[in-house]
Amino acid sequence: MTDSPLLVVVLAAGKGVRMQSDLPKVLHSIGGRSMLGHVLAAASALKADATALVLAPNMAAVREEAQRILPGVETFEQPEPLGTANAVLAAKPALMRHKGRVLVLFADSPMLQPETLQRLVDGLDAANIAVLAFKPGDPAGYGRLVLDAGGRVTAIREDKDASEEEKRIELCNAGAMAFRVADLAGLLARIDNSNSKGEYYLTDAPALAAKDGLTATPVLCRVEDASGINSREQLAAAEAIFQSRARSAAMQRGATLIAPETVWFSFDTVTGRDVTIEPNVFFGPGVVVEDGVHIMANCHMTQTRLRRGARVGPFARFRPGTDIGHGARIGNFVEVKNAIVEAGAKANHLAYIGDARVGESANVGAGTILCNYDGFAKHRTDIGNGAFIGSNSSLVAPVKIGEGAYIGSGSVITKDVAPGALGLARAPQEERPGWVAKFRHFMQRRKKTA
Ligand code: UD1
Ligand code: MG
Repeated sequence: MTDSPLLVVVLAAGKGVRMQSDLPKVLHSIGGRSMLGHVLAAASALKADATALVLAPNMAAVREEAQRILPGVETFEQPEPLGTANAVLAAKPALMRHKGRVLVLFADSPMLQPETLQRLVDGLDAANIAVLAFKPGDPAGYGRLVLDAGGRVTAIREDKDASEEEKRIELCNAGAMAFRVADLAGLLARIDNSNSKGEYYLTDAPALAAKDGLTATPVLCRVEDASGINSREQLAAAEAIFQSRARSAAMQRGATLIAPETVWFSFDTVTGRDVTIEPNVFFGPGVVVEDGVHIMANCHMTQTRLRRGARVGPFARFRPGTDIGHGARIGNFVEVKNAIVEAGAKANHLAYIGDARVGESANVGAGTILCNYDGFAKHRTDIGNGAFIGSNSSLVAPVKIGEGAYIGSGSVITKDVAPGALGLARAPQEERPGWVAKFRHFMQRRKKTA
């Protein structure tokens, strides 16, 4: 059984009305990735033979997100949100083609780990149906698992249909269920909508199975793995679980987090050994932090690589395409975008570095702005190795500063500067000796005569 082919069916239609959102529920993010993305990633870790996604009509954005995460996914539309069993039926062509096991997942349960799903599927070795079960602190809203004396699931009672006694059952349905396709087809055909919501519930399958002498077993998982998201509060709770896992993982890989609860990770943040992360740091998607990097407080970064031994912040902002070299220093109130700052280079205070290369060991002074945008197109700036950009300079791109060149402070540089040269583009300083006394004298006389 364990080796029979596996089809994963992910349900992503349904109303999701409690989110109060124009965005489909399953596209809301946790750790910088959509719920759907998390579920498909967990499913693909199982190395399933095929994955089917059921979505509502006119949900091109959901389909695109699914195909981005898992290009081989086959999508089906459920014309109306008539319930989870009806949603599985929408994937009938995939079910008909398939021989073996079927794992049904809800796209609104994004915290499920691949190991948990594997245990669930392995539950089929001992039963016809495996139901992922958990014991939430507050079971309200979840389906309750009714067990027989032997611990088999004889029914799942939805919250709205449960009696007072059934509501006291602590063991709940996490949403994921595994079947053999041969059993599933017959069960789906018999599920009706005689319940308080008037929906076709997939959760009716175990009770129907029991009538046929088929068995359903609960497979227990941790509460954190099971959280289903129907509201923004639940989304925030899942985010908190995600973040606490990501913080632990970073620390286990060798990062010091001075105040872990203030550091925010994305699903793909990579951090190395002997990294120090001070409080209030936000990692958007696509960040790699190599060994020995020190991130001072209050930094924000997305699609950025910080190479070995770089030291950045406090208050640095790295937008997509930032690459900070080995041992480079980026200080407070510096913004970098689509730029390579090479090994040992420094921009310690108040600067904008966009669409550029800052060569090895170059020094970018306080207040330097790379003027990369003319209102129509972006242009590049190249600062040569060892160049020194004096404070408060504007480098108007496209422009090239040669190796080892100096730029005088306050310059507005519009032309290339040769290697080793001084580029100076500011009004020359004048000095008028004794001017202040004459000025005062003149002004006082004018005041008297007025
Ligand atoms: C469901 C379960 C409940 C379980 C809980 C766990 C049913 C009937 N109930 O309740 O036992 O404790 O999940 O989180 O299965 N969907 C469709 N089409 C539909 C309806 C739903 O695709 O017509 C999808 C939704 O997008 C969602 C998933 O199925 O991803 C579950 O639907 P939802 O309405 O959230 O069910 P719950 O009330 O959470
Ligand atoms: Mg739900």
